[in-house]
Amino acid sequence: MKIINPDTILSPSHLLTGQAIAFDTIIHAIAPLDELKSSYPDAEIIQLGKNSLVMPGLINPHVHLEFSANKTDLAYGSFLPWLNSVIQHRDELINGCDNSCMKKATDAMLESGITAFGAVSSYGLDLEAAAESAQKVVFFNELIGSQAQMADMLFSDFLTRLDASEQIQREGFYPAVAIHSPYSVHPILIKRALEIAKSRKLLLSAHFMESLAEREWLDKNEGDFKAFFNDFLKQSSALTSAEAFLELFNAHPTLMTHVVHANERELKLLSEGGHTVIHCPVSNRLLGNGAIDLDALESHHINWICGTDGLSSNYKLDLFEEMKIALFMHSETPLLPLAKQLIESATVNAAKALNLNSGEIAVGKDADMLVMQLDAAPNEQLALHLILHHYPINTIFINGKPVKGA
Ligand code: BEZ
Ligand code: FE2
Repeated sequence: MKIINPDTILSPSHLLTGQAIAFDTIIHAIAPLDELKSSYPDAEIIQLGKNSLVMPGLINPHVHLEFSANKTDLAYGSFLPWLNSVIQHRDELINGCDNSCMKKATDAMLESGITAFGAVSSYGLDLEAAAESAQKVVFFNELIGSQAQMADMLFSDFLTRLDASEQIQREGFYPAVAIHSPYSVHPILIKRALEIAKSRKLLLSAHFMESLAEREWLDKNEGDFKAFFNDFLKQSSALTSAEAFLELFNAHPTLMTHVVHANERELKLLSEGGHTVIHCPVSNRLLGNGAIDLDALESHHINWICGTDGLSSNYKLDLFEEMKIALFMHSETPLLPLAKQLIESATVNAAKALNLNSGEIAVGKDADMLVMQLDAAPNEQLALHLILHHYPINTIFINGKPVKGA
């Protein structure tokens, strides 16, 4: 048992002072130091200095490790030119990102306080890097393919990757399923994958309503996707409507990424289905997709959390940076409540969505904790200051084990 005694604890919903934390792999007690010392007389005491803060590790629910080699190859500004540039540079990006490149990405996430992440894996090439990372991992094996004649081949490749991820025997590694999007996956494939996810009790994720192009294609078979589907895939109409797509996920709460262009009816379905929205502000800005309406999510009582997306649509994998961009993107939203929501989204709310026993400094939770160094005693605007100032993270614990510092 260890007892850590900081100046302040951020739970993340409450600020606690005069309290220490007794933990091994999980948090056993939170109480004044003297009480914990008498309950656990043999515990090692970690006494932290002035202006120290302990808060939960951050959880990044959406990253594409396999695209970590991108820095300047992809075309930013609008969705279809970006997608075409991904297709054009796919091979060099994928071949240019070996295990060490992906390890750099997982290490960078750790350095910035991310103690758990959801890796969306297109090819399974990131399995080793994800499995060997220090963090908890939900490993989303992604299914993509809109052409019926390719369905069997694509599904068997998906199953092979899923099975390989299920062979990984390490604590805190959770195989899962991702459906790429309503426009890129044949409904037959979606149904087959959902059956697997249900029977194996696996988490599900999908991209949904990321771009205006997706909206126009699914609604009207028009817009920027029209030429793309005609030229590359010889398709003149969408395979599903957005609503029919969502209905497939009815009985299975799913992490829906982006959701920038969802309409009222779809928001209602997302709410009724208990789905969580992953908001990736940097990615949305760089791909010209606009800003999600957070008020609409709130009024439908939809849980939303914040993710980085991959380096294919971001310049770093850092949730503090992501939260800062969100703060400025949603410039009409009251500042301090948004800062607090962002901190909760990146901790307790993300843990709920990813089924992790972490994201909170609370008894019974896994001891996934950041030890931060503030430069003054925190006040009621701490959430905002945390997002603005990138305070140093001196030590990181995952399951009570120091994985950085200490
Ligand atoms: C496909 O594999 O069918 C596909 C991939 C990306 C966008 C659209 C379709
Ligand atoms: Fe993504």
